Amino acid sequence: MHNDNKMQIEICPSVELIERGKGVRFDVMTEGSAATAFVVRYDSKVHAYLNRCAHVAMELDWNEGEFFESSGLYIMCATHGAVYTPEQGKCVGGPCRGASLRKLLVEERDGAVFWQPDDVVRAVTF
Ligand code: FES
Repeated sequence: MHNDNKMQIEICPSVELIERGKGVRFDVMTEGSAATAFVVRYDSKVHAYLNRCAHVAMELDWNEGEFFESSGLYIMCATHGAVYTPEQGKCVGGPCRGASLRKLLVEERDGAVFWQPDDVVRAVTF
């Protein structure tokens, strides 16, 4: 997953991401607009997505950084309750069943979580 030719951006220290706990949001650019993305930890692994529901382009979190529903098994959209698998971002219940969140490439190394921007979801440049 690590590619030395491309810039990686540090999102947070590993310790900030608790298993099925609060996610860490970060700013991105996509299709010329500012947006947010997030990373969560599930089954020890880190998973990141564009913070945009597959139903309507709304942010998912019900409180800032709160993405998991009460069982801790699914990521849930606060607007109409679509539920997504944390590993794949696939909607398995709700109005956009079968659709998916936009997955982002993240890796964990040296005690931190890094994001690899791609051609569509890009880093914010100042
Ligand atoms: S906007 Fe997410 S379920 Fe409708």
